[in-house]
Amino acid sequence: MRVLVIGSGAREHALLLALGNDPQVDALAIAAGNAGTAVIADQHQVDITSGDDVVAVAREVRADLVVIGPEVPLVLGVADTVREAGIACFGPSKAAAQIEGSKAFAKDVMAAAGVRTASSEIVDNPARLDAALDRFGPPADEAAWVVKDDRLAAGKGVVVTPDRDAARAHAAGLLEAGHPVLLESYLDGPEVSLFSLVDGQTVVPLLAAQDFKRVGDGDTGPNTGGMGAYAPLPWLPNHVYQAMVSEIVEPVAAELVRRGSSFTGLLYAGLAITSNGPAVIEFNCRFGDPETQSVLALLDSPLGQLLYAAATGDLASFGELRWRDGAAVTVVLAAEHYPGRPRVGDVIVGSEAEGVLHAGTARRDDGAIVSSGGRVLSVVGTGADLSAARTAAYDILNSIRLPGGHFRTDIALAAAESKIRV
Ligand code: AMP
Ligand code: GLY
Repeated sequence: MRVLVIGSGAREHALLLALGNDPQVDALAIAAGNAGTAVIADQHQVDITSGDDVVAVAREVRADLVVIGPEVPLVLGVADTVREAGIACFGPSKAAAQIEGSKAFAKDVMAAAGVRTASSEIVDNPARLDAALDRFGPPADEAAWVVKDDRLAAGKGVVVTPDRDAARAHAAGLLEAGHPVLLESYLDGPEVSLFSLVDGQTVVPLLAAQDFKRVGDGDTGPNTGGMGAYAPLPWLPNHVYQAMVSEIVEPVAAELVRRGSSFTGLLYAGLAITSNGPAVIEFNCRFGDPETQSVLALLDSPLGQLLYAAATGDLASFGELRWRDGAAVTVVLAAEHYPGRPRVGDVIVGSEAEGVLHAGTARRDDGAIVSSGGRVLSVVGTGADLSAARTAAYDILNSIRLPGGHFRTDIALAAAESKIRV
């Protein structure tokens, strides 16, 4: 099988590595890629938001399967164009990708499917902002305002704060920029990222993972695209995992089928485990980054065959997934100033080490590998348990040099110390 992966992040690097371990995969290509993926796949620089460009590459490399990583091409309908060209595609249609692309659509699907989620309200008129903040604000202890950009914002448009002035300032800034604001009720409890392969009806859940969204240790500072992740979650009871699948993911997949926009690809449920059970923070229409790097490090089943089965409606006959024992911890090395405007062009030393996945990297004419984006590398450590996997990840990270680079030192720490309770 010949596989073309679309995207340029560490998630796509992880997908390529896992696909390469599948004995039935004999050729790998990527568009657009980075300095790390160029070493393991045939790399094509095209506009990945153009369905025609993606199909042209898929034909050139004679792809049997196209795997679309990021949300932007999916929301724009690139998967539809690939399927119309007669090529199997792992990734939802434009209609189904609205589960991520439109928060209003996602809330409507969840309401119809009877799935628990935060209550919400869209504010597009500055004159209504204060009254809305008062309806959603915290009198309750430990509560917070949740203020979101109602458009795709790569995780960075969200402010969660107990400070009304900060909440108001973020909302006012979005409104000034012409972006509608989504206010949500606050969901309290540890977060879980649950990825499921879906081929319309059949839902095959992967190992649950946890992501670290804030830039700083101890969950301080602004939200990012994700600074680290680990799997599995030793603190997550099996009955809660089962409930996430049967009460949340399966009903949502069934509701999408009922609406005629059945989902083919990776359905990502971002959940909070509240005192009343799991509730949805958001759905995404693709593999999460950096959780994928941890989850795929533990997958023992052949990924190419698995994604092909999902793409062709054949998941039901795939059988049980196999997982490796132990744990995987991913730590993101970010560029100076990220999640603000990152500094780029710095030389990176040590990025060839095993366990290092590339995101914002490029190869300079003189051969040096330099930073080219906010999240630069993902470092994945595995081990018998979370402590061992943490040690492995941080050992690799400490051998890498990036001027101004920063990373969190507490990825998976609370879980390794058994400090997370549900
Ligand atoms: P999102 O981009 O919607 O995933 O939001 C980014 C992060 O903000 C999430 O991972 C949560 O940590 C936090 N968040 C978003 N919505 C809520 C909510 N309703 N209650 C509590 N935390 C939230
Ligand atoms: N890890 C968060 C995301 O991929 O959206």
